[in-house]
Amino acid sequence: MTDVDWVRLAPSTALPRGTAVNVDIDGEQVALFHSDDGFHALAEACPHMGAPLSQGEIHGGQVKCPWHGWRYDLATGTRQDRRGQPARVYPVAVHDGWLSLGLPRRKEPA
Ligand code: FES
Repeated sequence: MTDVDWVRLAPSTALPRGTAVNVDIDGEQVALFHSDDGFHALAEACPHMGAPLSQGEIHGGQVKCPWHGWRYDLATGTRQDRRGQPARVYPVAVHDGWLSLGLPRRKEPA
């Protein structure tokens, strides 16, 4: 993927299956999840009213927002409880046991 910059985060063993953590990279708030089907990342702020999705419950491949219960697919960010605004998805990769997060490439100042 060429339009992202990969940021190496931590050994993949640092995030046990069934848990999530908030990651702050230069002010970009990301919720990083380890679900049954692997690692996923969504924007930390729920599209509804901004609740921290990293504090939501993980059920299979979904997270349930801690404030009002909207559910998002961890892989695609789409709403699972009904139609609605999706959560933003970030690419995640594991290379040599390390987790990396793909952040949108920032434009160089002109
Ligand atoms: S803030 Fe997430 S469902 Fe309301």
